[in-house]
Amino acid sequence: MKVAILTGGGDCPGLNAVIRAVVRRGEQHGLEFTGVRDGWKGLLDDDTFRITRQNTSGILQLGGTIIGTSRTNPFKRPDGPKMVMDTVLRHNIGAVVAIGGEDTLGVASRFHEELGMKVVGVPKTIDNDLSGTDYTFGFDTAVTIATEAIDRLHSTAEAHSRVMVCEVMGRHAGHIALHSGIAGGADVILVPERPIDLGDVVRHIRARQRRGRRFSIVVVAEGAKMARSKEATVSDSLDDFGHVRLGGIGAYLAKEIERETGFEARVTVLGHVQRGGTPTARDRVLATRYGVFACDLVKEGRWGMMAALHGDEVVAVPLVEATRELHLIDPKLFEIAEVFFG
Ligand code: F6P
Repeated sequence: MKVAILTGGGDCPGLNAVIRAVVRRGEQHGLEFTGVRDGWKGLLDDDTFRITRQNTSGILQLGGTIIGTSRTNPFKRPDGPKMVMDTVLRHNIGAVVAIGGEDTLGVASRFHEELGMKVVGVPKTIDNDLSGTDYTFGFDTAVTIATEAIDRLHSTAEAHSRVMVCEVMGRHAGHIALHSGIAGGADVILVPERPIDLGDVVRHIRARQRRGRRFSIVVVAEGAKMARSKEATVSDSLDDFGHVRLGGIGAYLAKEIERETGFEARVTVLGHVQRGGTPTARDRVLATRYGVFACDLVKEGRWGMMAALHGDEVVAVPLVEATRELHLIDPKLFEIAEVFFG
């Protein structure tokens, strides 16, 4: 059987590790593989190429994705679903392994449910906001990068007695902010799940000052917002999935903190640095486990399922369930972070 592999949505470290694992396991199962360029776009445009053990060797540690990605939603194009299914038929593609987050896997789920596509999913996103799984791959790398940045901000913050605001990714969920904030010893952590209370932020910073700590570190997720206001955005144009481009909450906060406290404040926006480069060992292992498992799902014909991590075990969950709602932060973990605020 010929199996197509596609990577969709924002890239993340570990995509290549999954591709390699699917292909290597597939070799044992006697499967053949086609790489789809740039996510669902490649099936719309009939842009595919053969992938083999040879051209997927040496990619385990590489960031990005050798087959490209995009935020394309075929259901938003006239005739899009039909064009995708035509490409599948034309190339005699027997199954599709879709590696993506809520948007890409939401599309995969619709193709399966509405058009009978034989699809299997692998959960990817640095944001870790996909339900059905405890962790997506890519998240650990993003947290590691953000934590290192926060460590570095500490010394310069202390040297200048400044408030440093560090803006990290996290559109709907504050997992990156929460984990890197705890690991990096942040004095305040702000997440999309809880409206920002500027008064609280200022109180924490002032409390530190009274105790002789003349600097503070504030970690904020890009999707965090003040009560009753919209997220900070760099542009109002929407992508195929209705998302705006986030950015700017860090700069806004730094200005407000400076105005309210009189302490000098600076902002650092980590942005796509969190998504680039080599995956951590943990993400390589998780991506490899997901890839092998997804290929086994194909072999067993378990269509419409996604590889997921439950505790320490990789299990199969229905794609519909994984894409029905978002996985938000655990309030109990936030309570632990709050012990260290101020
Ligand atoms: O993939 C998730 C994510 O990294 C979000 O945290 C962020 O808002 C978005 O992607 C950025 O997307 P883009 O790369 O399209 O600017």
